[in-house]
This record gives sequence, structure tokens and C-alpha cells, in this order.
Amino acid sequence: MIAIAMVNRKGGVGKTTLTLALADFLNAIHGFRILVVDMDPQSNASLTMLGEKRWVKCDQDCKTVADIFAEVQKNGSIPAGFGKALVISGIERVKGVSGTLSLIPCTPRLQQIEEELMEGDAAWRYVMGSPYFLLHAALSKDVFPSFDFVLIDCPPALGVATLNALTAANGYIMPTIADHVSTIGVSQLDGRIRDHSKGIRREIKRYGTIVNRFKSATILHRTILAEMRAKPEFQPVWDIIVPDTVKAEEAYAKHEEILTLRGRYGQESHIYFQALGQLAEEFIRRVS
Ligand SMILES: Nc1ncnc2c1ncn2[C@@H]1O[C@H](COP(=O)(O)OP(=O)(O)OP(=O)(O)O)[C@@H](O)[C@H]1O
Ligand SMILES: [Mg+2]
Repeated sequence: MIAIAMVNRKGGVGKTTLTLALADFLNAIHGFRILVVDMDPQSNASLTMLGEKRWVKCDQDCKTVADIFAEVQKNGSIPAGFGKALVISGIERVKGVSGTLSLIPCTPRLQQIEEELMEGDAAWRYVMGSPYFLLHAALSKDVFPSFDFVLIDCPPALGVATLNALTAANGYIMPTIADHVSTIGVSQLDGRIRDHSKGIRREIKRYGTIVNRFKSATILHRTILAEMRAKPEFQPVWDIIVPDTVKAEEAYAKHEEILTLRGRYGQESHIYFQALGQLAEEFIRRVS
């Protein structure tokens, strides 16, 4: 089992899109058992994987990742089996492939719970020690070993949720766009993750940067890609560069349907389908 956090403080760079595409390709083509953990209060991955009705039900039943934090706040610890009960197994997104794609959903409630966790000197701290080990405590032994890969979709911030994801993960991948704004603050982000790694005394591996939404005809994109390839905080920049294509938006629009991979991501000859296929192969090479 290897757990990867998808991290970037910048929003809209494709963290969620690439998490779901990797989950689909790694699962449907390579047969890996995949767990997606949604750590973003926006809950885009949950909504996409479950559809609105099922997702709302999970929220109402308190079966979300936020309820790990809520449980600790309320009772000071995480009971045995708590994490396991949050996993929704057998999600069918790709036609004919079922049983091996799972999700722990998120909820907008996570935002408030996150804020409350950092307030004051709550009693739970004396038991759990740190607010950054809660996800790890709930899932690492109980849940993660049942999967080949765990993909943790993070919010566009380096708050408690993302720091929990980084603590529970073996390392992180940074999806980005090759535009100027998206490259600002990456060295600071990298530095803060190094500090966090020292603070928790666990290695958090930097698995590198995936460039998404690339417009090869744009000189600016090509210039910035070359700059990224020279800067240490982006290393390694993955070989596959995911093109900007309307297919990505279309795939999202069809999220409630169960389709073949081709139905969702385009024919095998389509640049998006090919890029995602290569992305999954590079993921296996770099992460395993
Ligand atoms: N390769 C692509 N080509 C075109 N559009 C894309 C591509 N990848 C993602 N998008 C679109 O970009 C938008 C943002 O993507 P996404 O939600 O995955 O970003 P995010 O990093 O998860 O954002 P947030 O930080 O807000 O969670 C979405 O509308 C998505 O459809
Ligand atoms: Mg997202």
C-alpha cells in the first residue's frame, strides 16, 4: 500500500480531476485496489464519485472523513473500527469494472470542525497528542492495508486537513498549471512540508509535479515549463504533460453516468485518453 496526498495551495489546478482520472485508470486498466480519501470541504470528489443523493446521505449519517475529527473532539479518541465504517466500497464508475474502487467522502462540515480543532487547549489533545495524526490514527492500520494505492484529494490550502493527509501519506504529488500564478509560493510550500515532516518525525516523500492543462501552442506555458524543470522544489517534473482539453470538462459533466473509460475520457486515439493512460503508467513507475 502506498498513500499519496494530492497537494497544491492553488485552487483549480486539477488536483481533483487528476485524482479521479488516476483512480479510474489505475483501477480499470491495471486492476489496482484504489481508495480515494476526500479531504476537501468543497467535496468535489465525493459528489463526483457518489452523485448528490448518495453523498448527502453519507453526510446526514455522519459517515465522512470529517466525522473522524468530530469523534475525537467529542469523545477524545477514535474507537476501533471507526475508520473502516467510513469506507464506501464497490463504487462503479467504469462500466464492467466494479468492486475495487472505494471512497471515504468529505462534507462542508469539515471546514468548521477544522477551525474548532485548532482552538483552545481541548482535552482530546492530551490523549491524541497532536491534531495532525488523527487521519493516520483512524486509517493507517485499519483501512489503508486493504488497498494498493490510496489517493488523498486535498483542499487548496495547507491547513489541518492537508497536514493530516500529509502525515498519513507516504508522500505527495503536486498538480499544477504552467502559468505564472501557479508557480508562486511553491518553494515556500515545499519548505513548509519539509518542516512538517521534521515536526512529525516521518518522511514525506516529494513524488513530484504533474503539469496539467498545458497549452503547447502558448509560449508562456513552454517557458514556465522549462523554468519548473530547473527549480528544485518542482522536482521531479513528470514526463507526461496533461494537455488542456475540453474533454476534461466533458468527463466531469458525465460524472453521474457509468461509462466505459473511452466513454468518459475519449477514444483511445484522443490526446486526453492517451495522456491519462501514460499518467497512470508513470504513476506506477514513480510511486511503487
Ligand atoms: N486537462 C484539463 N483540461 C481542461 N480543463 C481541465 C483539465 N483538468 C482540469 N480541468 C478543469 O479545471 C477545473 C479545475 O479542476 P479541479 O477541480 O480538478 O481543480 P482542483 O485543483 O481540484 O481545484 P480546488 O483546489 O478548488 O479543489 C475544472 O473545471 C476541471 O474540469
Ligand atoms: Mg479539488
